[in-house]
Amino acid sequence: MGSDASVTICADANGLAEGAAQLVVDAAHEAAEARGRFMLCLAGGATPRATYERLARPPLSARMPWDRTWIFFGDERAVAPDDDESNYRMAQEALLSRVPVAPTRVFRMHGEDGDAEAAAAAYAATLADAFGTRRGELPRFDLVLLGLGVDGHTASLFPSSPVLREVFRSVAAVHVAAAKIPQRLTLTFPVLNAAARVLFLVTGAEKAKILKKVLDERATLPATMVRPTDGELIWLVDRAAASLLQVGQAR
Ligand code: 6PG
Repeated sequence: MGSDASVTICADANGLAEGAAQLVVDAAHEAAEARGRFMLCLAGGATPRATYERLARPPLSARMPWDRTWIFFGDERAVAPDDDESNYRMAQEALLSRVPVAPTRVFRMHGEDGDAEAAAAAYAATLADAFGTRRGELPRFDLVLLGLGVDGHTASLFPSSPVLREVFRSVAAVHVAAAKIPQRLTLTFPVLNAAARVLFLVTGAEKAKILKKVLDERATLPATMVRPTDGELIWLVDRAAASLLQVGQAR
């Protein structure tokens, strides 16, 4: 991890959700003022739900420039959008259905499509269209939210997967035998590392061991391969997840 990563330890999962939601609002204002719009990439999994719920209710919901916010996803499982395991469904329930974001500005990954490679290529084209990038250029998100799996995965970038070496495609179809839903779509490292800001959200004692590996030991894991080349890397973790960290060490 670069020396520019910042790590903030929050008292608990509620404090983390509050801090994360506040960071999203601040990033939204900064981007909307600087570039006229806010390009936000949401994380899947369970951890961000509380953050999304805070963003969906006052006072923060009223402070978000929803009319200038564009929503994307970092990964998706091969399930229908109304499935319990769908990352889109979680975001829709916790946030998107409750705020005045235009449905035409919400870009979900079509994890349910039978041809996963085609679905990945279609999402790459969606990104290129939305960002106005040309062939060979990478979209630059204003903010990417990410979670951390107990094996060190992030988005659907799992340890030992060939996709970790992807340098060209912005979106890939992956098959992860060990995962509950093995077939997935994911953004790749080139896109994550092109972001202006990446925010990891990590809570709970079950994440303590892997968080130590990532932040203290800097082990080679998907999560440690997230290093924005010209952007900011922020870790928001709760006390339970941080319980094994060497607090106070320079990072
Ligand atoms: C997914 C993810 C994944 C997730 C981590 C943490 O679709 O599974 O996006 O990378 O963020 O597995 O998940 P939890 O927040 O549920 O612990």
